[in-house]
Amino acid sequence: MDEKEAGKVKSYDIAVIPGDGTGPEVVAEGVKALDAAAGKFGFKLNYTYFDFGGERYLKTGEVLPDSAISDLKGFHSIYLGAIGHPGVKPGVLEKGILLRLRFELDQYINLRPVKLYPGVDCPLKDKGPEHIDFVVVRENTEGLYAGAGGFLKKGTPDEVAVQESINTRKGVERCIRYAFEYTRKRNRRKKLTLCGKTNVLTYAFDLWERTFNELKVGYPDIAADYAHVDAITMWFVKNPEWFDVIVTDNMFGDIITDLGAMIQGGMGIAAGGNINPEGVSMFEPIGGSAPKYTGKNVINPLAAICAGGMMLEFLGEDAAGKAVEKAVMEVTARHIKSLQAGNMGHTTTEVGDLVVKHMPG
Ligand code: IPM
Ligand code: MN
Repeated sequence: MDEKEAGKVKSYDIAVIPGDGTGPEVVAEGVKALDAAAGKFGFKLNYTYFDFGGERYLKTGEVLPDSAISDLKGFHSIYLGAIGHPGVKPGVLEKGILLRLRFELDQYINLRPVKLYPGVDCPLKDKGPEHIDFVVVRENTEGLYAGAGGFLKKGTPDEVAVQESINTRKGVERCIRYAFEYTRKRNRRKKLTLCGKTNVLTYAFDLWERTFNELKVGYPDIAADYAHVDAITMWFVKNPEWFDVIVTDNMFGDIITDLGAMIQGGMGIAAGGNINPEGVSMFEPIGGSAPKYTGKNVINPLAAICAGGMMLEFLGEDAAGKAVEKAVMEVTARHIKSLQAGNMGHTTTEVGDLVVKHMPG
């Protein structure tokens, strides 16, 4: 990306938002792993830290400074730990930081791989790594998350609360197109499943289904499939091997990816990317800030490390991204007892060191 003067190594500017709770601890291990990969693959990562999160809000009363969005636009990528603080009313930080960044940076894809790594305990009987390897493409800027709606007669017995799902042709189309392209590039089973609820949400998912059917004509190499969201949750448990790539709206994507995280072994390993293919993307472990484990050196940093690996891939450092994932797989296969915080058989920092030790390249 940034080949400056001749002879200088390629370098990337990364905005790091460690955030709340255990965010800083997992991000520190992620940075360790990323630097190890960068060293082996001949590039450099320059980190600039931002203190956005609950502590800053409690001290200053400001959720995000006005300059945040334009500052962040100057980076190649954003690496996020966790947002969420027990001392702050739910919604303030989530909406004011995480969702605001997703929306204003137009990160319209939330990409969530669900992959069972070797050695990881799976809660599903008789399922192994050969059965669980799919990716959810979640629309990330619209739907119920758009914030449309309001109250009538709030606080009275006649109160009405309306929360509307916003689905634009443009937003739906760019998401589905991304999913088809991603399925082709991934080149695994070449199957894309639209997850919806066309039998009840007959406006929103009519638009999704029509768009999906129109676009699929341009991808004859990809098997296009449809499933209702409720059935999808059943099949994640019963037949996860049916899935390759799933595309869905913001709310359904939020829900099914937590279930996905569980069948891949838990929040300790689940990573995600908020992608703006034309702009600045942001990578994060999808578990929360886990306040009760803060400062104890027991939280699992692998999800954050995997998110870092995804970031490298999106920066164009494919081999380095794959190396991070390989190192993580070595650690799950050979070293770590459990993915659960406190039960790993190693501390947070030791797990980071093990990943570094196993970094191929
Ligand atoms: C996620 C989280 C967020 C979401 C919350 C924290 C706002 O659950 O990334 O899935 O709902 O998108
Ligand atoms: Mn979620």
